[in-house]
Amino acid sequence: MKDLIIAANWKMNKTVTESISFVTELDIRLKQWELNPKLDKIEVLIFPPFLSIYPVKGKSELISIGSQNIYFEESGAFTGEISTEMVREYTEYALIGHSERREIFGETDSDINKKIRAALSSNLTPLLCVGETLEEREAGNTFKKIEDQLKEDLNGFSEDEIEKIVFAYEPVWAIGTGRTASPEQAQEVHSFITEEINKISGKEKKRMILYGGSVKPENCKELLAKKDINGALIGGASLKVESFFAIIEKSLELV
Ligand code: PGA
Repeated sequence: MKDLIIAANWKMNKTVTESISFVTELDIRLKQWELNPKLDKIEVLIFPPFLSIYPVKGKSELISIGSQNIYFEESGAFTGEISTEMVREYTEYALIGHSERREIFGETDSDINKKIRAALSSNLTPLLCVGETLEEREAGNTFKKIEDQLKEDLNGFSEDEIEKIVFAYEPVWAIGTGRTASPEQAQEVHSFITEEINKISGKEKKRMILYGGSVKPENCKELLAKKDINGALIGGASLKVESFFAIIEKSLELV
């Protein structure tokens, strides 16, 4: 695993043409650093919409691709869904449990648990998102909420399996709001997430945990400098090559 993962979650944005031109342009910029050994320490990852996965795959050797969603069944009568077998030829990661999937599409922790199982069975790295709402934070329930999510989402997995999962702390109140968790707030939760995962898996070790929620070029460095923050999951600021590249550029200063 690399030292840092800088991931773009495009959500329901970008046509195929727009996706191709983004990746082509980002590749040109990243190539300036191809000889910089530090680039080896950063994984640049994009979660495009489904339709763009195939067209962008292979457009850059410096960019990994992930699926924004997967279904847990292998195949069959599940109109509108996509299986791990379908995406795995073109992707290395699957985003699972994003708060928009939980809140807008009613995904439960039990669904998320099955999706992690399906991803691991197909050798896709799950990127599991957890996080509290504003009401939960204000009521002092941040840690309880995250503990519950992790317990249910990771129920039944062995340490060997948990070791393959990448995590993201995404406070729901910071997503798309321009309101970022302070580096101290984020670090506090990242450290808690590490402890909880270690409790569940029975093994003390460092975990790969990204922060997501209004990450921008202006605030990424302070967040990424924190001990337990190993990358960023970026929505809004990942839609323009300029700002996404600026975040990668700043993170390069930290590895
Ligand atoms: P944002 O989204 O950067 O626009 O807040 C982050 C996410 O939802 O992953």
